[in-house]
Amino acid sequence: MALYSDKVMDHFRNPRNVGVIEDADGVGEAGNPVCGDIMKIYLKIDNDTISDVKFETFGCGSAIASSSMATELIKGKPVEEAASLTNKAVTEALDGLPAHKLHCSVLAEEAIRAALKDYYDRHGIAYDENRFAAAIDCAHCHDAMPN
Ligand code: FES
Repeated sequence: MALYSDKVMDHFRNPRNVGVIEDADGVGEAGNPVCGDIMKIYLKIDNDTISDVKFETFGCGSAIASSSMATELIKGKPVEEAASLTNKAVTEALDGLPAHKLHCSVLAEEAIRAALKDYYDRHGIAYDENRFAAAIDCAHCHDAMPN
């Protein structure tokens, strides 16, 4: 069986929503200190809906595929729904990732949350601090990494 699904390969080779939104309403970044990969998400929000989303990812193929899929999953969705996106949902939408690459999808979840937090902060919108303060536990991913 191939290590990567057709969907992972498709989103890696033809990533959707690559780029920058100059007048973004929220910008968020997430990085993995172990592999050094970085993902940045730009959100445009109108009427509480993600009207546009772009990403820049300096990272592995799984990180690029995860970014691409994650942006597709939240585009056109209500802000609340985007805030609830999990790396598990991203991984499932990609038809899976190898165990040692699951942390790449965590970057997408973290970057989107950071961008939404930035949006709330910029617009003075109240939110539950715990929701964003609760750092995603990447320990198991880090432990699973070969390097
Ligand atoms: Fe670092 Fe994939 S995000 S190896």
